[in-house]
Amino acid sequence: MCGIIGYVGAKPVSEILINGLKRLEYRGYDSAGVATLDESEFSVRRAVGRVDALASLIEEEPVSGSIGIAHTRWATHGQPTHSNAHPHLDASGRIAIVHNGIIENYNSIRTFLEDQGIEFQSDTDTESLAQLIGFFYAQTNDVLESVRHALREVVGSFGVVVLCQDAPNTLIAARRGSPLIVGIGTEEFFVSSDASSLVPHTSQVVYMDDNELVCLGPQGMQATTIDAQSVEKEVVTLDITLEEMELGGYEHHMLKEIYEQPESLKNATRGRIDRTNCQIVLGGLAPCLRELPRFKRLLLFGCGTAWHAALVGEYLFEELARIPTDVDYASELRYRNPLIEEGTLAIAISQSGETADTLAALREVQTRGATTLGVVNAVGSSIARETDAGVYLHIGPEIGVASTKAFTAQLEVLLMMAIDLGRRRHLSPERTHRLIDELTEIPSKVEFALDLNTQIKGLAAELADCDNWLYLGRGVNFPVALEGALKLKEVSYIHAEGLPAAEMKHGPIAMIDPQMPVIAICPQDHTYAKVLANIEEVRSRNGRVIAIATESDRRVRDLTDAVLYVPKTHGLLSPLVTSIPLQLLAYHTALLRGRDVDKPRNLAKSVTVE
Ligand code: G6P
Repeated sequence: MCGIIGYVGAKPVSEILINGLKRLEYRGYDSAGVATLDESEFSVRRAVGRVDALASLIEEEPVSGSIGIAHTRWATHGQPTHSNAHPHLDASGRIAIVHNGIIENYNSIRTFLEDQGIEFQSDTDTESLAQLIGFFYAQTNDVLESVRHALREVVGSFGVVVLCQDAPNTLIAARRGSPLIVGIGTEEFFVSSDASSLVPHTSQVVYMDDNELVCLGPQGMQATTIDAQSVEKEVVTLDITLEEMELGGYEHHMLKEIYEQPESLKNATRGRIDRTNCQIVLGGLAPCLRELPRFKRLLLFGCGTAWHAALVGEYLFEELARIPTDVDYASELRYRNPLIEEGTLAIAISQSGETADTLAALREVQTRGATTLGVVNAVGSSIARETDAGVYLHIGPEIGVASTKAFTAQLEVLLMMAIDLGRRRHLSPERTHRLIDELTEIPSKVEFALDLNTQIKGLAAELADCDNWLYLGRGVNFPVALEGALKLKEVSYIHAEGLPAAEMKHGPIAMIDPQMPVIAICPQDHTYAKVLANIEEVRSRNGRVIAIATESDRRVRDLTDAVLYVPKTHGLLSPLVTSIPLQLLAYHTALLRGRDVDKPRNLAKSVTVE
């Protein structure tokens, strides 16, 4: 959700900024821009659309200097136009800023500044911050003080980097709510929304915390709070490799990440299964190990795909650990005055660890007394750092905007957590052994499911013209139906709905006709017979059914128009295999519709505004 990068050092800045933006582009791609400083003169370039458009502009009209800031935008306030693209300058043209987040009181700031005769150039909330810094700077001539002063006045969230013509060797960066990471090179500094753009340059980073501000330049890094209290920052070594972020011969990150799943699912369990003692060992839970058996209630929350993983988690925790479990959208949880009873363990699920709604919900349940865990992929992210303990996915960066490998790894981690909690309560060693055996076989079963690719490509060609799709599932596969529908919506822009299969007859069945594919997930678990009955209901209304079924299930073949067979596995683990064909189906359908699957319109990988 907006990517920002800044650089100060001795190298030409232009290429560093453009390459950095390309790696951050999954955070937003409505417009992009840079501002560099050379001999106290700003060069500013902005372009509507992708970073490539900005790169072409800079080829025609180069920028120079070895200090600069850049931004790729996901529009919140103001259309994705040239004038709304960042960087934004103050009226004097001496201050330039890039910003991720939302300035909520931008209107009153703008009115105040317009009353002082300041003319605005854009419709954005960000410009009000640039102008406010400029307003204070005009009075004090002290840029650092002006930034501090302005940031004390604004309400909302920001990751902001400021450049001032009169301080041509210094970057000022500050955060509240939106992520910022400082990269430390040799006599150079980077500052960025996430680690992906830093990896080519350095592995030494400092994660900024809320209400912190850094000054970066030849004088080194000075870290303080926004209120000028000095703070000690720890330098951390990144463990992401460049290779993990490249396409590696695949046409798209989404396809690469779908195919990475046999490996990512191995990585998520590596070192965490202790067969000898029949237990799961999740080192990240160490800070609250003693408390674990005492929790009386679980509360899982997240957004989008992570919320679907939470819904699967509800089945897993209730079945294996026998703990009452609730699931909430992070965005709703926060605003409904939630009752957090004593003994509540709240689990925030987030691939990026930066989703603003999830972070806000986390803080809300913390203030109400819950112990919190994170199920997060991005190491060092805000949610990972603010939870009491947690379990990382350990699957490397996920770049494709539509989440695939993170979803299955979230399911796997939640399953391990449910087994772990179950073992501390009533789960028998026999049942645990069986689950562990099944879990270790999942990567090869996922590989088998990936072999469906050619069949799915053919199927997608038959279905790609249909404008409405229905996904049905029951039990643990109901959230898989929701996730299958979400994948299709995200990357192909086709309308799709996921439903608990039995709910179809309470309304949606009215829509069934041969033009609406119905994707029915029907592994041979305890819901099987019921789902078959639901399939019959669709067929008797001339519906077109595509089943995701257990290999060698002949019955389902006679009832449906096409079957995608996945290997048999334990019922509770079936989402790990049934999700795979749905990801591939969404991918191929989107390609046939000519979509940019890695950067679907209007979406961003990491939504850091509420
Ligand atoms: C965005 C992405 C979704 C993702 C959701 C939650 O909406 O487009 O793919 O599921 O955010 O992201 P998180 O990083 O918190 O898992």
